Amino acid sequence: MRAWEIISGDGVDALNLAERPTPAPGPGEVRLKISANSINYRDLSTIEDPITRKLPFPTVPNSDGAGVVTAVGPGVSLKEGDRVTSCFFENWTAGEISAAAMASALGGARQGVLAEEVILPERGVIPTPAHLTDAEAATLPCAALTAWHALTQPRPVLAGETVLLLGTGGVSVFAQQFCAMMGARTIVTSSSDEKLARMKALGADETINYRTTPDWDTAVLELTGGTGVDRVVEVGGPGTFDRSVNAVRVGGIIGLIGILTGAAGQASPTAIMRKSVTIRGIYVGPRSMFADMNRAITTHGLKPVIDQSFGFEDARAAYHTMRAANHFGKLVIEV
Ligand SMILES: NC(=O)c1ccc[n+]([C@@H]2O[C@H](COP(=O)([O-])OP(=O)(O)OC[C@H]3O[C@@H](n4cnc5c(N)ncnc54)[C@H](OP(=O)(O)O)[C@@H]3O)[C@@H](O)[C@H]2O)c1
Repeated sequence: MRAWEIISGDGVDALNLAERPTPAPGPGEVRLKISANSINYRDLSTIEDPITRKLPFPTVPNSDGAGVVTAVGPGVSLKEGDRVTSCFFENWTAGEISAAAMASALGGARQGVLAEEVILPERGVIPTPAHLTDAEAATLPCAALTAWHALTQPRPVLAGETVLLLGTGGVSVFAQQFCAMMGARTIVTSSSDEKLARMKALGADETINYRTTPDWDTAVLELTGGTGVDRVVEVGGPGTFDRSVNAVRVGGIIGLIGILTGAAGQASPTAIMRKSVTIRGIYVGPRSMFADMNRAITTHGLKPVIDQSFGFEDARAAYHTMRAANHFGKLVIEV
């Protein structure tokens, strides 16, 4: 069987397609024939900079895969032929995150799923919603669960509340779909009017082009009668954070998720304190939350938005497409 490997710090074009023996599952493990992966910005960052992350070589990239169980080890309840999706963390099944759970991320501390066959513990997979294709299910483990987490913790968004979404990448498009499902109003920013029109089609209430309106936080305040939004799904990081604080209401919530504008920067604590804003760092979510999300996705028949699919041999092109950031929603690699 074939697997893509990170074998150096030389980036996407240095990814290596290797032939490996088909693995056999041990106790508590399943073997999956992977049908599809989706990719996340984090997978791209990992491939571009494995050395800072102290990644061993070779490491198979990607956290998000869906496929079919082809073999089970002793003590496993799943059966051959069951359709399942990978969990981002092998060891975060429920409750609060821990250091041990954090050290079990696929395509990072653990081998990832960009391979024709993978071995995962049974606790590290979850049944695939029946109405989704494997390609659609492969979009769920990271981006969808992170968006769901940001909208349901520390308390769920209420119908009629207003949520600010930044950009139109994988996390934000899922957040829009979930907000529509939950009856929440959204204000969405993007660099592209065409992408904003697509967010409107998914139910966005208000849109702001952050290129033509660089003071988008002021525009958000105007759209909310000066009050600010109830919640922000913050994927921008240092380049957007202070504006998100300005755009959120007194007592509002910011789910701190992403670093699209860079890893380091400065924040202004005074405004956070004065407005009593809850800032919550979010790292994907546990399997139990994934199950809650899948129940909602199934109940509402929600279909993930896939921008483009790439063939397995063409995996490098998927990461280049992500780097170009012209996509809307998710990029998928069919295996
Ligand atoms: N903490 C976690 O658990 C977790 C989980 C998933 C993702 N993340 C992080 O969250 C971020 C988003 O992930 P993703 O998978 O959604 O990425 P993505 O699909 O690559 O998102 C790309 C989009 O982000 C938007 N963007 C870029 N710079 C922006 C800015 N200054 N203001 C507003 N939007 C901007 C652009 O939207 P437009 O083209 O519309 O302008 C771009 O198309 C990444 O930093 C990722 O590492 C974290």
